[in-house]
Amino acid sequence: MIHSKKAATLATVLAGIAIAASQGAPHDPGPRPGPSGAGGYYPTLDATEQAAFANGIVQLNQVEGVANVPQGSGGLGPGYNSNSCGSCHAQPATLGTSPSPSSPQVPQPNPQIVAASASGATNEIPSFITPDGPVREVRFITNSDGTPDGGVHNLFSIAGRSDAVGCNLPQPNFAAQLNANNVIFRIPTPLFGLGLVENTADYVLQANLAASATQRAQAGIGGRFNTSANDGTIMKFGWKAQNKSLMVFAGEAYNVEMGITNDVMSNERNLVKGCQFNPTPEDTHEQDGGSDVDAFVDAMRLSAPPTPARQTSHTESGQDLFEKVGCALCHSETLTSSNSYNTGMSHVKYRPFSDFALHHMGTNLADGVSQGVAGPDEFRTAPLWGVGQRLFFLHDGRTQDLLNAIQQHSSQGSEANVVIRRFQGLSPEQQQAMLDFLRSL
Ligand code: HEC
Ligand code: HEC
Repeated sequence: MIHSKKAATLATVLAGIAIAASQGAPHDPGPRPGPSGAGGYYPTLDATEQAAFANGIVQLNQVEGVANVPQGSGGLGPGYNSNSCGSCHAQPATLGTSPSPSSPQVPQPNPQIVAASASGATNEIPSFITPDGPVREVRFITNSDGTPDGGVHNLFSIAGRSDAVGCNLPQPNFAAQLNANNVIFRIPTPLFGLGLVENTADYVLQANLAASATQRAQAGIGGRFNTSANDGTIMKFGWKAQNKSLMVFAGEAYNVEMGITNDVMSNERNLVKGCQFNPTPEDTHEQDGGSDVDAFVDAMRLSAPPTPARQTSHTESGQDLFEKVGCALCHSETLTSSNSYNTGMSHVKYRPFSDFALHHMGTNLADGVSQGVAGPDEFRTAPLWGVGQRLFFLHDGRTQDLLNAIQQHSSQGSEANVVIRRFQGLSPEQQQAMLDFLRSL
């Protein structure tokens, strides 16, 4: 771990020297200012679908407590990472990704710090959750007996909350796990436009991969899909494409991130005596107004992709280079969705900048966790739509700098090494055009 970090730092320094030698070092212009252009419903939807989307957004932003109230809210804990979907999926609008106090939408510190002590909860803030840092979820690499773990360990407990009297669930000992180098992080991925992704047929993804087979082979790039053990189809969601559908992800997130049992994931995690306060499932389609999970799915499935900025000849030249050096061999520009139940969402050409396949990303990005067929250093090509307004990059949010995020692709065993070398061979002006193109997305 330490060894590969050193190697990365050296590579970064060398790249920096090479760049400084010619004038005008390229730099990340930072998150694109102006209106977010994201977070709305898909523009062709009918009034009923628009209303379902609007309700979904309200439910995503609902802050949950422990006690189940008649409208079906509540159920937080006993373990949790935050207390609303919208707190983690916030930048640059609800459905987005990790906020930061530097973003105008979220003037408060990291929402996990607020959630840690909500309603009197007595949690300690782990060292890796900082006011200016990204929202993070934690997985442990191995169990104490050395067998693979990989599961999410909740940061916080409801112990001490005024609505959780009698519950004494302790927090995990994160300091000890950090000392043992057993902790990895994941930041939230944005949820805009995911209905199109969900509704893209397997054969479309397979044909997309097949179309670049020769070029990929020449650049040392592989690529394979993560598939569902349940029905054998391609999985597309999560940093390792470990999750099958928006419904499954929503049900899982409600239980894993917030501790709220539901129709998809119906048993409490971390349950110890004295910490069960509600009948389960705490959220169900049987309640008045339907389930929260259904509403979350509506918000995600019916949302519009982020709107890119107007292209100029400068950003267009950046896009040409993005294709020429081979970024687009993984970050596929265009896909087409399938026939859809929702108004105007059939056969849509959309631009996610991802092949939704897994790639080996080398020792520097490896997190040691396996999910489905995705091994310790394999990740889904991160979709780049909306990257123009992102604050934190890569699965663990390790950088806020786009240029650094690109350089981090390169390390021993990474399928991106050839492409990153080509990128580093570009002139500073060309690299700048590419960075400006990415910040236009
Ligand atoms: C504590 C912060 C946090 C909360 C609260 C949270 N999420 Fe997430 N979300 C994450 C993280 C971290 C990931 C990436 C997980 C991974 O891939 O390992 C993620 C990923 C997702 C994805 C995958 C998107 C993609 O691009 O593949 C979906 C869908 C999702 N979340 C939905 C939800 C819903 C619905 C809720 C509310 C029930 C929710 N999340 C609450 C942190 C959060
Ligand atoms: C071999 C496939 C591959 C190639 C080639 C590739 N990428 Fe990536 N890219 C990925 C994967 C996989 C990730 C996610 C890695 C992680 O988070 O650990 C990623 C992440 C990113 C991110 C961060 C996105 C986020 O959500 O945090 C950016 C920006 C990016 N790539 C830009 C580029 C550019 C620019 C190039 C060309 C110079 C490029 N990539 C080439 C596979 C690739």
